[in-house]
Amino acid sequence: MKENKLTRFGVSMDEALLEQFDEMIDKKGYPNRSEAVRDLIRDAILQNKWTDGEEVVAGTIMLFYDHHHNNLVDEMMHIQHDFHENILATTHLHIDHHNCLEIIVVKGKTALLRNLSDRLISLKGVFYGKLTVSPLNK
Ligand code: NI
Repeated sequence: MKENKLTRFGVSMDEALLEQFDEMIDKKGYPNRSEAVRDLIRDAILQNKWTDGEEVVAGTIMLFYDHHHNNLVDEMMHIQHDFHENILATTHLHIDHHNCLEIIVVKGKTALLRNLSDRLISLKGVFYGKLTVSPLNK
């Protein structure tokens, strides 16, 4: 097994940019810059892995939509059945008279999940959607 050795490195950046960064990590509650930078790097590496599409990940697709919109609910159901092997669970919450929040728990190859998420989020009537995933193996 590879040893997890800590390495320090220096980063030069614009003072104004660093101020904004410090403000952001303070709001998020990070104890220090190092922890915040580590999280950013992990996320950047993960997002970059999207390109190969072969890594198996798990996560959620969050969708906000107006269920009154034409055939939206039917179309959404149809797409989800096409990806039944990748969908572990779906939770639907009625936010108010018009708006729904749906959280779909997914697992599978990144390329497939992105395809599923793109198809759902691009439907007319969906006003916000986001796919968030985590790798299954470190
Ligand atoms: Ni609803």
